[in-house]
Amino acid sequence: MYKKILVPLDGSERSTKALFHSVSLAQKYTAKITLMHVVPNLPPYVNTAVDRLGHIPQSIFDELMRNGKDMLDQYVSSISDKNIDTDKFIVMGQPADEILEKANQENYDLIVIGSRGLGEIKGYIMGSVSNRVSRHAPCPVLIVR
Ligand SMILES: Nc1ncnc2c1ncn2[C@@H]1O[C@H](COP(=O)(O)OP(=O)(O)O)[C@@H](O)[C@H]1O
Ligand SMILES: [Mg+2]
Repeated sequence: MYKKILVPLDGSERSTKALFHSVSLAQKYTAKITLMHVVPNLPPYVNTAVDRLGHIPQSIFDELMRNGKDMLDQYVSSISDKNIDTDKFIVMGQPADEILEKANQENYDLIVIGSRGLGEIKGYIMGSVSNRVSRHAPCPVLIVR
């Protein structure tokens, strides 16, 4: 039923929980999982680091990508004993847009995502990324609380 599962990860507890749900589904359905991280575009308060053309200096870009890759590597090793076909994907951009684009372009048949992430604010049930992804995804979305 599910052959390609996309798992967006931001380093939060909830996304780690989502990963374990995806692992269990991947084992059941012999699916392949893609661990994906989007390095968010720099927020406005660090705009001083952006040059006149609006480019992020290479050193900052490199560091952000390196941190993201380290995070994905840790996730991959945390499930390395599970014998699942796994790959990883990292990109910089708006998280929801990038996740939706990936799901669309590569025909994933399930997205497993946390209900909240790193920016958790008490009182809200869903974060903005999980909210947008679940509303616009081309495939079923499992939201893990
Ligand atoms: N930068 C990101 N890269 C990949 N996945 C993300 C990213 N940000 C959020 N997610 C996914 O979306 C889920 C919900 O996070 P989000 O909507 O950002 O909630 P919050 O507002 O609590 O941070 C996370 O558990 C994770 O699965
Ligand atoms: Mg967030």
